[in-house]
Amino acid sequence: MQTLLILNGPNLNLLGTREPELYGATTLADVEKECMAHGQRLGFAVECFQSNHEGALIDKVQDAGRRFKAGELAGVVFNAGAFTHTSVALFDAISGVKPLPVIEVHISNVHAREAFRHHSYLSPAAAGIVVGFGTDGYRLAIEGLARKALAA
Ligand code: DQA
Repeated sequence: MQTLLILNGPNLNLLGTREPELYGATTLADVEKECMAHGQRLGFAVECFQSNHEGALIDKVQDAGRRFKAGELAGVVFNAGAFTHTSVALFDAISGVKPLPVIEVHISNVHAREAFRHHSYLSPAAAGIVVGFGTDGYRLAIEGLARKALAA
């Protein structure tokens, strides 16, 4: 059974209490539980990792690239939080492990928010993008990744 990796960046550990009007009342633990159940329904094991540290996320992306090459991992769902808008290093990490499919997720519609959230360093390297569907976006991204993996 192949694995899907769900990666969450800075401040997403605060889901449920952080600006609930923007991000909803669901906690990260609930999101991860739902991702695991949904992945399993589609025939994938699901691993989850959250970090507030850019380097830890880069290490995970690099390791995911190695595991993809080994055939263990089908892809990554990645909400990089604010690093989306700042991190050339994460863009380089995702570019450096191509063709590992990385689906960029944002809970909120970043394009309807402040101008500094309109640009993503990650989008040009992403295999797909899910924006503005609340925490359901993780499930939608898992479905997209599963379809890609089955079509490959
Ligand atoms: C976010 C959007 C980012 O702009 C923000 O910095 C986040 C969360 C989202 O899921 O909507 O931390 O990635």
